[in-house]
This record gives sequence, C-alpha cells and structure tokens, in this order.
Amino acid sequence: MTTRNTSRSPLASSDRIDRRRFLKRAAASGVGLAVAGVLAACGGGSATATTKPAATAAPSGGAAPAAGSSPAASSGSASAAGGKLEMFSWWTTGGEEAGLKALYDIYKKDRPNVQIVNQAVAGAAGSNAKAVLKNRMLGGDPPDSFQVHMGHELTDGYVAANQVESLDDLYKSEGWDKAFPKGVLDIVSANGHFWSVPVNIHRANVLWYNKKVFTDNNLQAPVTFDDFFKAADTLKAKGITALALGDKEPFASGHLVETVLVGVLGPDAYKGLWTGSTKWDDAKVTEALNTTKKMLGYINTDHAALTWDQANDLVISGKAGMTIMGDWVDADYKQKKFADYGWANSPGTKGVYDALSDTFALPKNAKNRDNSIAWLKLAGSQAGQDVFNPLKGSIPARIDGGKADYDTYLKSAIEDWKKDTIVPSVVHGAAAKDGWAQTYQDSINSFVTSLDVAKTQKALAQGCTDAGVCK
Ligand code: GAL
Repeated sequence: MTTRNTSRSPLASSDRIDRRRFLKRAAASGVGLAVAGVLAACGGGSATATTKPAATAAPSGGAAPAAGSSPAASSGSASAAGGKLEMFSWWTTGGEEAGLKALYDIYKKDRPNVQIVNQAVAGAAGSNAKAVLKNRMLGGDPPDSFQVHMGHELTDGYVAANQVESLDDLYKSEGWDKAFPKGVLDIVSANGHFWSVPVNIHRANVLWYNKKVFTDNNLQAPVTFDDFFKAADTLKAKGITALALGDKEPFASGHLVETVLVGVLGPDAYKGLWTGSTKWDDAKVTEALNTTKKMLGYINTDHAALTWDQANDLVISGKAGMTIMGDWVDADYKQKKFADYGWANSPGTKGVYDALSDTFALPKNAKNRDNSIAWLKLAGSQAGQDVFNPLKGSIPARIDGGKADYDTYLKSAIEDWKKDTIVPSVVHGAAAKDGWAQTYQDSINSFVTSLDVAKTQKALAQGCTDAGVCK
C-alpha cells in the first residue's frame, strides 16, 4: 500500500444527524472540544449513517478477508505469505486474551505460514504497555501493529509524532468510510486522513453487582448516588464490602472518579472539563470529589494490592456487592463462568455512554507490513468484529456488526450506544491528550490516599491550565 494523500476530508460527509449539529457548535468553540463533540455523534451516527457492506467482508466460515484487495496494499497470495506479525497490546486477562486469540485463529486460517508474535505487555489500561511502546517507537523498533485508543491518545500521540501511516487506502478498499458511524470516523481521523481502525466500543460507566447478594439483602440496582449509598450502608452493616476496587494499576481509581464526574456534572459539563468550558474549581467538581470520598469509605481495604479483575473476584465470591468498571468486566465474568451478575449505569449516569474504543494502527517502518495490513483488514471486518467483541465484552464499532452471539448485557449495550448521550473517557484515551490525562490520573491517585478535596481540585485546575486547555 502506498500512502495516498487525499484532499477529501473524512469529516466532509453528507451524513448529517442532530447530534452532529451539536458537534459543530462544540467544535466552533475550541480545538479540544472537537473530540468531545465528535464522540457525541458516534452512537447516533450508527442509526442514520449509510450502511454499505464493506468492500472486503470476511468470507463466511471464519476465514480472514483476502489480503491485497487494494492493489498496492499487499504483495503475493495470503496462503503463501510468511514471516511474522508482531501485534502489540496490553490484553492479558481472560476476556481480553480470548478475544485477541479468536482473531489470531481467523488470521492463521488465511495466513498459516505467518508466525504471530503476541506482544502483550501486562497492565490494565496500558499502564505498562504505553511506555514500552513509546520507547520502541522512538528507538525505531515498532511492532507491526498496535492497540491504541481512539481520540487524543491516537491523534495527539502517534499521529502528531509522525509515527504511523495513514490508512486512507484501506478505508477506501475495505469500504470503512461507510462501515463506521460518522462520529467514529471523525475521531480516528486528523488532518484529513484516517489513522487507525476501530475494533470495538467499550463503555466505562457500568456498575456491576452480585445478584444473590442483592436479593439476599432486598436491594435493587442503584440509579442515583442516594440509592448507591443506601445499598452500600445495608451491605456494610452485614460486613460485606459494598464497592470492590482494585487500583494496584492506578487507572482504576481514575476510572471511578471519571464516572462520578459524569454522574454529578452531567454529560455536557463533564465534556467541558476536557475542553476548558467547565472550570475545575466549579462547585460541582467539589461535589463530585466529596461524593467519591464518601464512596471510598465503602471499599475493600486491600484495594491497592488488587488489579481490577481481582477486585471483580470479590464480587463473584460475594465478598463484595458491587464494582464500577468498564464492560471488559462482562468478558471477565464469561471467562470465569460466573452468570449471577447484574448491571446498571454507574450512579447518576442513566442515558449516558462514557465511551472508548480500541483501535489498531500501522507504524511507519513496520517490519512485516503486508502481514500487518492483513491484520488491520481482519480487525475492521464485520466477521472479525463479531468474533472478537462477544468475547472481549465490547460492542462492534461497525454499523453492520452485532449479528453474532452477543450476551444480554452486550445486546443492551448495542441498543444504548444508538440512543444514549455519548461522552469520551479520559482514563482510556478519548477525552484528553496524554500529558493532561496523566496529570488527572496522578491527582486522583494522590486523592485516594490523602482524601484532600481542596488540594486535589487545585491540582486538577492547575493541570488543565498547564495543558493549555483552561485559560
Ligand atoms: C482499556 C482498554 C480495554 C481493556 C481495559 C482493561 O483501556 O481499552 O480494552 O483492556 O483497558 O485493560
């Protein structure tokens, strides 16, 4: 594939939806606002965008899409292809690994002589992987493809650093410019080019609970913060940990606070936090931090020693009643064969989808470029997404995905994605560029220990100013 420069902007589509108008208004008031606004159009786009089957959908029977459908994309036939495919990610837990492996299995059917090197660096939310990858990129030793979140993590990171190839040719040959919702297309593009292919959509703002624990204690899934604290008091009185947290990998506490910010501020004001239109010294931010502080009074004492999935084990065993975490938890339950769970939007976020997406990109100077292109084609295909996502606990990014055996939670997520108000996750790369997201994360980590609301709020306000987002 040769990188083709096109003057056509991926933003210039005839698809227009109401929420798209909102985006335009948002984008008009600042650069950063564009991402938050773009995400607001994602789900709605799926309902109205033109659905055209991808040019190279995977053949039935699970074989990968044939490589080389774009004339310049790949040389030689797929079955004769050899060499390696080094795929870099942080997917090492049950559901994550299962989804990835299922994609590899399809890939290997089409390219049996390619050796797949699964370069997965453990550490949820990329806590270790991102730094390793950055060093490799800087050192001129990129993998063949890598996992990267849609949004600022991609565009302000690898695109700005000129480390990835444009995927414009693939978007054209595979029909991807019609296969994904408009809002998703916008957020994987920058400077008029497409830069990665989204394999899924995850939701961050989910409260998971043990049904038996809830039934035994006459509890309903909480909707509001008041509901949450009532349920938490009941569980605490019985000696049950109300809220399981595993922030050994610190993203988990940042994740919890993100969902509280959405719940207390509401979607518009939450989005404004990342674009400068909501001030960090706002009384609602104080309220959100105080609410979090109160929630932290109900967590397991060993939270700093546990990972998110170990915290989830507390819910499975009934030692804890609830946990607030992204929907990769659904995949964790599946892998651990635990079915007695319920879910609700995290408190105060009914009707809001706090979204993130895992995408794959093509580094410049990838050693096995043809193999990488075949991988990207598979990840972007309907067949690939419908094999991967039911195992990963996510929903397909493609408009025509969702036809496979999705469980009850995922079916509900597919519906919610179409109608909810969408906001971008900060902890998972969508809402803010890396430096600012890291300052947020660091401030929240200190907060979990200090519980100092005023100090934390000040640090966050300063972080926003330092990032050049708050004036
Ligand atoms: C997110 C990622 C998900 C899941 C999660 C936990 O950042 O997008 O796919 O892997 O971290 O590791």
